[in-house]
Amino acid sequence: MSTTVSQISQHVGQEVELKGWCYNFRSSGKIFFLQFRDGTGRVQVVYSKADLPSDQWDLLDALRLESSVIVRGVVKEDTRAPLGFELNGVSVQVVQLAQEGYPIGKKEHGPEFLLDNRHLWLRAESQWAVQRVRDRIITSTYEWFHENGFIKFDTPILTPTSCEGTTELFEMDYFGDEVELSSMEHTAGEAQLRQEHRETKAYLAQSGQLYLEAGIMSLGRAFDFGPVFRAEKSKTRRHLTEFWMMDAEAAYVEHEGNMAIQEALVCRIVEDVLAHCAYELKVLERDVEPLKKVQAPFIHLTHAEATKKLRELGSDIGERADLGADDETLLTQQYDRPIFIEKYPAEVKAFYMKRDPQDDTRVLNNDLLAPEGYGEIIGGSQREDDYETLMKRIHDHGLDPKPFDWYLDLRRYGSVPHSGFGYGLERIVAWTCGLHHVRETIPFPRLVNRITP
Ligand code: 4AD
Ligand code: MG
Repeated sequence: MSTTVSQISQHVGQEVELKGWCYNFRSSGKIFFLQFRDGTGRVQVVYSKADLPSDQWDLLDALRLESSVIVRGVVKEDTRAPLGFELNGVSVQVVQLAQEGYPIGKKEHGPEFLLDNRHLWLRAESQWAVQRVRDRIITSTYEWFHENGFIKFDTPILTPTSCEGTTELFEMDYFGDEVELSSMEHTAGEAQLRQEHRETKAYLAQSGQLYLEAGIMSLGRAFDFGPVFRAEKSKTRRHLTEFWMMDAEAAYVEHEGNMAIQEALVCRIVEDVLAHCAYELKVLERDVEPLKKVQAPFIHLTHAEATKKLRELGSDIGERADLGADDETLLTQQYDRPIFIEKYPAEVKAFYMKRDPQDDTRVLNNDLLAPEGYGEIIGGSQREDDYETLMKRIHDHGLDPKPFDWYLDLRRYGSVPHSGFGYGLERIVAWTCGLHHVRETIPFPRLVNRITP
């Protein structure tokens, strides 16, 4: 019977067929131990020379790492095995005998070597585990939003404006100089239009937020989930140039309500990872005790309180400065739960954030910092909903109001108080998996110095 490793507990005593790969092997000359994986899990298949036809034994003898194989064997319980089962091998079929010299061996490899071989490294059990946790987080996010009245709303990647400031924008020509003027007869108006298109710049989206704000004026509550791009010049363990963001937005939700949504979502994600990915976390040697402490209520600090505390802890952060990565790390080490940092100085944040009525120099925003030194995983805020004020902010930030005209329409026609936030998927995966660097959390990382493979 054809089955998968994840299902073998249902076939104890039966002969089963599994299709996958050989990730390791060793032989005593009489007994052959095949370490087999099929995508759903790993299991050992034990062949005895005495019980096998000689051509079958020869196949095993000639096997190489990562060859694709179809194995048959009888499932038996074995308490020493990670899954609690192993197979008594009956036959093996080699689908492709891998070439000699599989690049990733048992010895320690440096991170650059592993990243150069990312397409193969993904087969390692640790990387398999990370991708499964990532999938769980995505699934839990969709589930939680759908249970809470949010509609998935797809925002564009090619955009005419910047959402998060112009210093990190990937710019490109959009039907730039190569557009040929049509040889067809055209009116002066058409020629003018074409001329404008020749000059159009486009930018890769940094966040879908502005479009999501349009979405909620139709749907009430919405979220997007997709790749975003930041031309980050910094080489840090938290930054990718292409990463996956989930933005959420809700009409008639203000600053406090916005944080309550974030708290509930993060609790759900961590709870689900603990419940569904226990084996994966074990593979990753993730200490789950700190994750179990991720419970509501989270810690709340204002930016003013946070900077004061940081100075007491020895940081030289200024009163109105943005928190640096080291500051975030230091702060998260003081608590065992995630921390909301609220009400940053307006000058370090984006143009669309609503000001705090109690202090007009600050905004109604929050960052959410993950514990154990991980730092910012979410950025969110209440949005400025007044047309005149928003127009002024766009000017004050030195932005050209023309491409924001559609966005300003949202304040012209039926504006409402509203708020939202965005999480960085790779930061949440790194935290829950206990990984030092975000580059291991995405299948093919794009960093300031890496676009291959
Ligand atoms: O804090 P950010 O820049 O917020 C926004 O983009 C808002 N428009 C979101 C919103 O309100 N809808 O980015 C959101 C999150 C950060 O908290 C961080 O987790 C992640 O995106 N992030 C990055 N992750 C990996 N590499 C980078 N270069 C990142 N920049 C931000
Ligand atoms: Mg941020």
